[in-house]
Amino acid sequence: MTSVALTGIGELSTQDDELGLLHDAALVVEHGRVAWVGPAAQAPAADTAHDLGGRAVVPGFVDSHSHLVFAGDRAEEFAARMTGTPYSAGGIRTTVAATRAASDEQLAANLARLVDEMRRQGTTTVEVKSGYGLTVHDEARSLALARQVTEETTFLGAHVVPPELADDPAAYVDLVTGPMLDACAPHARWIDVFCESGAFDEDQARAILQAGKEKGLGGRLHANQLGPGPGVRLACELGLVAVDHCTYLTDQDVDALASSGTTATLLPGVEFSTRSPYPDGRRLLDAGVSVAIASDCNPGSCFTSSMPLCLALAVREMGLSPAEALTAATRGGARALGRTDVGHLGVGACADLAVLDAPSYLHLAYRPGVPLVRETFVRGRLT
Ligand code: NIG
Ligand code: FE
Repeated sequence: MTSVALTGIGELSTQDDELGLLHDAALVVEHGRVAWVGPAAQAPAADTAHDLGGRAVVPGFVDSHSHLVFAGDRAEEFAARMTGTPYSAGGIRTTVAATRAASDEQLAANLARLVDEMRRQGTTTVEVKSGYGLTVHDEARSLALARQVTEETTFLGAHVVPPELADDPAAYVDLVTGPMLDACAPHARWIDVFCESGAFDEDQARAILQAGKEKGLGGRLHANQLGPGPGVRLACELGLVAVDHCTYLTDQDVDALASSGTTATLLPGVEFSTRSPYPDGRRLLDAGVSVAIASDCNPGSCFTSSMPLCLALAVREMGLSPAEALTAATRGGARALGRTDVGHLGVGACADLAVLDAPSYLHLAYRPGVPLVRETFVRGRLT
């Protein structure tokens, strides 16, 4: 195995120790991992070198929340929302119908296109959920397809109750915790529940998470997206690795997060695309809460694959500094997935990184909407 030196890095954020900012830096990759990082003048010899021309380098983004296995789109629903129709979880059923009707090839092609779109915007680790199949067969095939593009797969059979069981939600919970979980667990690392009025309540969420745990799946939750509710506190009580959305938080929710190890994953693209109020990220950080930023890329509440956009929104609308937002989109996302090998560029980490067409990471928030990611490296390879 040859070593590769990335030289000519004008500014490098390793995220090893806070921002871990170095100037005029170099980074040496061996076996897909960071073997050395430091001032360019002290860089050890390597077999080959790649000069980055003074550009800024950041760790690849860790997008810890997405729904990429689906067919169709909901552009008309978006247009109606922009003229006053509120977002509702009911729209999920539109995508469920399209997903059930799609072939494996169609689903795989759409998934590959979205993962490629993410990669071109600097995302190097992505979590992908099921949740638009809602039958044993369609959830299992969604996860089998997701598994082909990422290790971070999440079983979200408990997204909404499908139309055929609308009159008998208890039967659907039995299906999710029984045969559907049996079929899906081999393809999944995580189990998730949309804990919200109109989806699944606290008791149902508890039962589904417990069933997943017994199958060896880690738990995570969609919570407090459409209004205040018990989900955030439930996630903290159960010691889940992450609770996502956190749009409507009470003082008790913030206290529970601050005294737990649960990461609050903020999804600013959702507030942007649904015209919901943005949660106060500043308040969470000041309370000592672990915060991540993710895209929630999905055809309904937020159809962006862009972590740079989400980072810029978190700065502009949630009170994070550009440095805090970068950390939330890298190390924070890694924490939300229980990972220590990604989200930073310390020695031993995966050599996953984004080269920016900019002199500093600050430009990610400073130049919203501009395609600043010039190159993305995954495990030390240019993709
Ligand atoms: O994370 N909240 C639930 N699920 C998705 C939206 C799904 C959809 O509208 O299709 C979300 O926002
Ligand atoms: Fe989601």
